[in-house]
Amino acid sequence: MIKKLISMKKRNWLLWVVLLAGLVACKGTDGENGRPRVEQVAAGVWKLTSGTPEKLNLLSELHVRPKVEAINAMGEAELPLPVDSISVKQVDGKTYIRFPLEQEEKIFGLGLNFQTVEQRGRILRLHMDHYNGRDNGRTHAPVPFFVSSRGYGAFINSARYIDVWAGTSVRKDSQNPPVVRDRNADPQWSAQPYSDNLEFLVPAEGVEIVLFAGNELLDVVRRFNLYNGGGALPPKWGLGFWHRVPTLYSDRQVLDEVGEFAKRGFPLSVVGLEPGWMSRAYPCTYQWDSTRFPRPDEFVGELRRQGIRTNVWMNGYLSPDCEIFERMQPYTATHTVWCGTVPDYSMPEARELLAGHFQKHLLDRGVSGFKMDENDGYDSWLWPDVAEFPSGNSAEQMRQIYGPLMQDMTMQLFRQRNQRTYGLVRASNAGAASFPYVLYNDYYNHRDFITALINSSFIGVLWTPEVRASQTAEEWLRRMQTVCFSPLAMLDAWADGTKPWSFPEVERQVNDVMRLRMQLIPYLYTAFADYAFYGTPPVRAMNLEKGYAAADRMEQGRLDATANPYALAVRREVKDQFMVGDHLLVAPFFAGDQERQVVLPQGKWYDFYTGELAGEGEVIRVKAELDRIPVYVRDGGIVPLLNDGERADDGRKHTLEVRHYGMKPATYDLYDDDGETFDYEKGEYVRIRLHVAPDAQGRLQGRAEMPEGKTAWSYGDFRFRFMTQP
Ligand code: GAL
Repeated sequence: MIKKLISMKKRNWLLWVVLLAGLVACKGTDGENGRPRVEQVAAGVWKLTSGTPEKLNLLSELHVRPKVEAINAMGEAELPLPVDSISVKQVDGKTYIRFPLEQEEKIFGLGLNFQTVEQRGRILRLHMDHYNGRDNGRTHAPVPFFVSSRGYGAFINSARYIDVWAGTSVRKDSQNPPVVRDRNADPQWSAQPYSDNLEFLVPAEGVEIVLFAGNELLDVVRRFNLYNGGGALPPKWGLGFWHRVPTLYSDRQVLDEVGEFAKRGFPLSVVGLEPGWMSRAYPCTYQWDSTRFPRPDEFVGELRRQGIRTNVWMNGYLSPDCEIFERMQPYTATHTVWCGTVPDYSMPEARELLAGHFQKHLLDRGVSGFKMDENDGYDSWLWPDVAEFPSGNSAEQMRQIYGPLMQDMTMQLFRQRNQRTYGLVRASNAGAASFPYVLYNDYYNHRDFITALINSSFIGVLWTPEVRASQTAEEWLRRMQTVCFSPLAMLDAWADGTKPWSFPEVERQVNDVMRLRMQLIPYLYTAFADYAFYGTPPVRAMNLEKGYAAADRMEQGRLDATANPYALAVRREVKDQFMVGDHLLVAPFFAGDQERQVVLPQGKWYDFYTGELAGEGEVIRVKAELDRIPVYVRDGGIVPLLNDGERADDGRKHTLEVRHYGMKPATYDLYDDDGETFDYEKGEYVRIRLHVAPDAQGRLQGRAEMPEGKTAWSYGDFRFRFMTQP
């Protein structure tokens, strides 16, 4: 009898287990064949849910909302592949995802890579870390998002370390299998046979995937950025020139250095203080050092009077000497970093304590922003994956989102004051596009820095190829030239005290490009507004250019290096030229280069400096000159410039020089607002339409059209300059 009872109970128990397992397995699937549940969330955006996704993902802890209205305004777009050709299933407690690949398909994105733009053929583990010389997924922004040249992108919304096989594996059931060859006899045998799989393994029993369609690749990226809250709009001052001073400088030394900038005629918008501003660093107090900075309010105020903002370095780890150390204890992890405690930024209690501390010591004293260092990794320094956080979030998840959490928290602090900030961070991920932070690192390779700049545009992050030191004057100049065409133009002299004029041989050229940077702010600011409003990355890869991708597709299969060098060039990975805003193509030189090739997309392109025709849908060769970084403008390109020596953020109304290139009529919507608050989100901004069209005699004329009832904040008048002679 008893035996019978037990066996009945066992059977019931088994039944429950089977039922429960069924329930779990069905959640997020359509239940019939284990296919993911598909839901359209905006025009051209679909969410796929499979298994039981974890509560914490890359977006769940952040204060970001998809800009659905802006996505819908883009109109509908079709996915280029049937959703059921994407397979998602749970295997061994993990989620296995497969996307089919076509023969000519290219894959971009998959984290901030430094040496490669095209990711097909790579194996990666997307893992937050300091970049260490290999594109293997360990990087400052291991964003699990890819863009396919077929015209779609997919975001795997998981805060786990995700494995990726991007076209390296061959399945038995392949629709497009490689030819089986005999290595002994066939010279075409390959160790890497053709693969039609893009595969992901997520160590979680379910996952949410977001698919983005786009008729142009840029639209895929725009939808992704808008889904992540739209891009960041820095304050106007953030787009000026930044200089970080040596770590142990005192207030006097900083002010002297600032004086030197003015004396020598070098523009300066932001001074960055390195760890020495704090009473203790590594771990940090976030309190001023009273010997080097006895009167921080006066010091910050003095800089502000000179039109210069103060940015302060920090990392996340709390010193026992920090005022809030004891109170923070319950909200810190089990492990320390550099003997400092690790706040659990996912807990409101931790954020509140830190917020109060930052307000009191920094924001209330006029500090304009942060450089948030070392939240990315180096395994030997960071907390290990066995660490425990009081929120219960795993160490692995916390590592993937720590940078975004710090960005979110500090950005909110400024938002509460209706004040925009702009700063630096060493760790980012999906969900951080709207946070006004730019990535940087210690890996100091100029070429790779430019490749990273290009790659940042696929994954919703910003990157600066900051300048620190150089072996030669030429290298110094080349680095300065590129940083001035990046999201954040900065010299980081924290270690060796370099100055823009450190190499007298190129002092004039460095000065020229820094001043040009300042003149370009109206153009750059508009590019950033397009990032915030439309999701368009301000600095971006050639592969996101319309004429570029079209030429690539058109020429498929007709490659001939002599007859058609353009086609061959566009099909090669382009890692050394990029777009800034809609109209400028930048093709930097690196130290040692005598000449380089530049791939000009379809249409006519003009030299930025002279207005002369440079080429048209072709590959040109350019000789290196020290004076200039090659920049080209598309036909009908409009570039508004401040006059030399003027500042966009001085509260005055300036007369802009509106340059027009080529012969095409054009319109350009110049963006303006107060440059520092969030009032633009309530409609307090203006788009001034700049028109260029031929008059009755066929001569080009320019006209600025201000929307009725509006005025601009920084621009009073416009002087058109036609750069190209008919
Ligand atoms: C590094 C950082 C440098 C500098 C330095 C200060 O981690 O990348 O830019 O801030 O710390 O200790």
